Amino acid sequence: MEAQGREQWGTRVGFILAAVGSAIGLGNIWRFPYMAYENGGGAFLIPYFFALLTAGIAIMILEFGIGHKYRGAAPATFAAINKNWEWLGWLQTLVAFCISVYYVVIIGWAISYFYMSFGQGWGDDPKGFFFENFLHLTEGPFQLGCLVWPILGATLIAWLINWIVLYSGVRRGIEVANKIFMPILFVLVLVMLVRGVTLPGAAEGLNWLFRPDFSAIWDYRVWADAYGQIFFSLSIAFAIMITYSSYLPKKSDIVNNAFMTSLINCGFSMLAGIAVFSILGYMAAEQGKAIQDVAGAGVGLAFVTFPQAINLLPAASFFGALFFLSLTFAGLSSEISINEAVISALMDKYGWSRKVVATWFCIVGFVISLFFVTGGGLYLLDIVDHFINNFGIVFGGLIEVILLSWFFNLESVRKHINAVSDFAAGAWWKFCLQAVTPIVLGYMAIANLIGDIREPYSGYPVGALIAFGWVVVVGVVVAAFILQASKGKGRMLDSSSNL
Ligand code: ALA
Repeated sequence: MEAQGREQWGTRVGFILAAVGSAIGLGNIWRFPYMAYENGGGAFLIPYFFALLTAGIAIMILEFGIGHKYRGAAPATFAAINKNWEWLGWLQTLVAFCISVYYVVIIGWAISYFYMSFGQGWGDDPKGFFFENFLHLTEGPFQLGCLVWPILGATLIAWLINWIVLYSGVRRGIEVANKIFMPILFVLVLVMLVRGVTLPGAAEGLNWLFRPDFSAIWDYRVWADAYGQIFFSLSIAFAIMITYSSYLPKKSDIVNNAFMTSLINCGFSMLAGIAVFSILGYMAAEQGKAIQDVAGAGVGLAFVTFPQAINLLPAASFFGALFFLSLTFAGLSSEISINEAVISALMDKYGWSRKVVATWFCIVGFVISLFFVTGGGLYLLDIVDHFINNFGIVFGGLIEVILLSWFFNLESVRKHINAVSDFAAGAWWKFCLQAVTPIVLGYMAIANLIGDIREPYSGYPVGALIAFGWVVVVGVVVAAFILQASKGKGRMLDSSSNL
């Protein structure tokens, strides 16, 4: 197929659904509520919307623009802009790979919990169940323990679905999968939302989510989490949106598509947040406690607190299944896009066929993901997630914005974008990319880096943070330069490129 030129989306709706499918993921249902929860509820929303409006949408337009203009995955696109910048594309692609191998395991948890929700297999003590009986959590990150077979089985299912979709190609695989997953996901979440807000106590949960606490907005960590969340949630700065837009036909409205994708994604986060917090409000009311005393922080929110809430609901099995099925569908459509970013980059560079790359990629990815399927997997996952998001994505995004808007003629991309878009990317777009985002993101990224050096993340042993955090991040940077230097037989850029 590649011999005839680059693959393409079949329809505009197909592209939007795929981009929205990539954006909406575990980040919206699993990560957003606990990020909001940990950062003071309503206080989080101020930096979150600031990051969305000044960085998220602007970068989405930029990535759709360059992917569409240069028609390559991230490395080929950056190489076309400046041949010395190919490494940045690889850096973002490798960040995607690191995310892929732990993200798929959380989908595995969701698949297992979906299965268990028929009869609430987590029992009366979801917390003890999750950490002990389900994850077989060890004492610390250096004790990997054994492979956990049920999670391994579920993770394998997730990889198999990925393989089938990715092997089938852009139009017949990714587009078709998203046309099935996305409508189902919206219906599932709407049903949860209606159930959630009609429960007694829901208002208290929502108050908690939306009540602004202005003292928290002076804390750079709240901003860092908000920016990290926007980048992760919109799938920007880790190679995906550049890759997806490289499959757009020449006549495609970039600005409109970028706004639609970003706003649908963040609207969905709000809906999911409302559904989750209204159910937490109900749980707090049932138990006569305050919200902050019922909700567990961190990764446990979806797998500990939610099952506790589900236990209290009438028709518990139904709502449990609904929640974990939404998590599964949301996760799969994003995981597919994360993997496609890597597969497409390898195809561009080395000229290998999709079927070969997709197959080997899924095998290698599965083997590496086994680290996260062990008893120590949750620790590794938490550390890799923190470092890859706070440093890999954030610095990858910062360098992208600085290189493209300070050391490249951004006007040429703007002209390209405006030539195909109904409404134009105006001066505001350049201002956000050239000034607002580098300043705010730059300050925050550096403050965050200093903070992490001064204080070990989440109290983990420093050795573990070095081994699974810093080494991974530095390894990604080194590998990016090695990949840039390596010689590939691919054409890097499609011959029909509309440069
Ligand atoms: N954008 C995807 C998510 O939010 C990766 O989960």
